[in-house]
Amino acid sequence: MVSSATPPTLEDTAAAAESPKMFQLYIRGDWAWVTGMIDRIKAAGYQGFCLTVDSALYSRRERPMSSRWSVDHTRAPQHREWQAKVTWDDVVRRRDYAGLPFLLKGIMAPDDAALAVQHGVDAVWVSNHGGRQLDHGEGTLDVLPEIMDVVGDAAEVVVDGGILRGTDVIKALALGARAVAIGKLQGWGLADGGQEGVVRVLDILDEELRVSMGLLGVTAVDQLNPSSLRPAHPITPPHEMRAWVHLPGTRLVEAQAAWPSRRHGRRLPSACPLVGSMPRRLVPCVSRRSQGTAPACRLGGVISCARPLPRRGEGPGLLPWFPHLRPCGTLPWRLKAIRSGATPMIIDTHTHVVSSDQVTHPLDPGARGWSTEVSNDVEDLIAAMDRAGVACATLVQPNATYGLDNASPCDSATQYAPRTVAVGILDPAALDAADQLSPWVNERGMQGVRLQSRAEADDPRGDALWQRATSLGVPIAIGGGQPEQVDRMRHMGARHPTVRFAPDHCAGWSGAADKAAMTSALERLAQLPNAYMRLSSTSLGPYADLTPPEQALFRRVIEAFTPQRVMWGSNFPSSGAGGYLGQVQLGQTALAWLSDDDRRWIMGETAHTLWPMLQGPARG
Ligand SMILES: Cc1cc2nc3c(=O)[nH]c(=O)nc-3n(C[C@H](O)[C@H](O)[C@H](O)COP(=O)(O)O)c2cc1C
Repeated sequence: MVSSATPPTLEDTAAAAESPKMFQLYIRGDWAWVTGMIDRIKAAGYQGFCLTVDSALYSRRERPMSSRWSVDHTRAPQHREWQAKVTWDDVVRRRDYAGLPFLLKGIMAPDDAALAVQHGVDAVWVSNHGGRQLDHGEGTLDVLPEIMDVVGDAAEVVVDGGILRGTDVIKALALGARAVAIGKLQGWGLADGGQEGVVRVLDILDEELRVSMGLLGVTAVDQLNPSSLRPAHPITPPHEMRAWVHLPGTRLVEAQAAWPSRRHGRRLPSACPLVGSMPRRLVPCVSRRSQGTAPACRLGGVISCARPLPRRGEGPGLLPWFPHLRPCGTLPWRLKAIRSGATPMIIDTHTHVVSSDQVTHPLDPGARGWSTEVSNDVEDLIAAMDRAGVACATLVQPNATYGLDNASPCDSATQYAPRTVAVGILDPAALDAADQLSPWVNERGMQGVRLQSRAEADDPRGDALWQRATSLGVPIAIGGGQPEQVDRMRHMGARHPTVRFAPDHCAGWSGAADKAAMTSALERLAQLPNAYMRLSSTSLGPYADLTPPEQALFRRVIEAFTPQRVMWGSNFPSSGAGGYLGQVQLGQTALAWLSDDDRRWIMGETAHTLWPMLQGPARG
């Protein structure tokens, strides 16, 4: 979402960012000005259009005043009058002229939400502008339930305000929002770590969301509903032993010294006193006027600060740091776990579709191997998954079948989304590999890329593709075979620490001549936090015939990655013994020493951390 108040020009931003974009317009002129802006927005390729309607006046913001920051000319009062004059008819006129999906941002009253729906908005955006406009206004979660009642299914509902943690996202979704947005949070990530910091913010949110869902006992967001929450009052004031640590005095600095860059990849920059990597320094959200009386987190919200904060009753309170922070909810909703009936979701991360329709999906002229003899249409695969109790799958483009044309897995995955996602193949050494990846991901929905190349895994020609995978947020699958190849993928993975990648088939461990050397190489690989391991049934099949010392080596590999970074895939129909069901059962039984919890991770939960968009079929 690009704001009209954000430099550089809307065209420059559009040209620099590949992801789908929406534009948020503040009205700063007459109809000719508005249509001129909308023409530019459309010409630049923005795919959604948003009007913000909570800014008729600019609030008195003490923090920018204290730092001598002033609004630029685009926000000057003489232009703002246009914003103040907007009527519902104007809204309709702008929506019709734009002809794009239309969002109305800044709705806080059910009556306004009803009017928005009547006037044909596509999305009602419940927002209090992050508490930056009306002081002492309501929290967005306070009004969300009533707005949901009014809007129903007539429009999408987006909510923002104080979203700082995965649990905040859960609360908003449970109350019915279709999407949440963040404002300050991404700003803090950006200030702390630039682009990498923003990615890290999203990674942390993503991880918190998944972990919290797991702890709640739900496997998909559509299992959340208002009954997952109950309003509650703060239980205790923040203290040092909380999960989200509140370190008094200078303890943060000491903690930082004792806990250097390992987890976040950097120390907090001393030049940036206000923000740190998020979970580092945590204090409860307070509203501007509460000045340190610190009601425990509203919306469960916590914020980060790298500067030691004064104790309650001492010093200037929180005002200098967070004068405008207003948490999203005034009710500190609590989450209720729903364990009954929540069964673990099995995700097959390595299965193949080979279409019997060779007119639509012709085999590559160089196709060879099993896929030239066996077809496995996506409908057949889904039926087999249903029989075997497999909820979701990543449809992996089989090697030597369609070359680098990923249409087959993409089409198949789209047909059964969100049960399926596609993992295509590209050659990382190709000059245009990165530019090929973007359209497959952005336009065809591909959610992972498998690398197939004559080049070595750490060939610098592959860096562009890894980098693009980072910015697109798609994981990488990579072949192995020998300890040296594993070391090479480790070099590459270390150069791109935010791409999650996994060798296929346990990096070929089962076929390795020197299993001890291979085990050591994989243990080294596992030291990279972004390295995952894919165990296919192909790698599990031979396990029963291994000698006990070899089995012990295999176990070391699993333990090095931990079940939280190991995922199973059937490799069906390439591995076909016992049919699909046989391959699934192999995954479920081959490693008898795994605990139920370990197995749950390997059979699905790890994969869900990589592909959180996967959702099993609706139950009952
Ligand atoms: C620095 C900053 C600038 C903002 N600029 C705009 C803007 O130009 N247009 C707009 O609609 N909202 C703007 N907002 C509000 C955000 O879009 C969003 O509603 C709000 O920040 C969400 O609350 P949160 O910051 O607590 O996540 C801005 C927020 C911040 C923090």
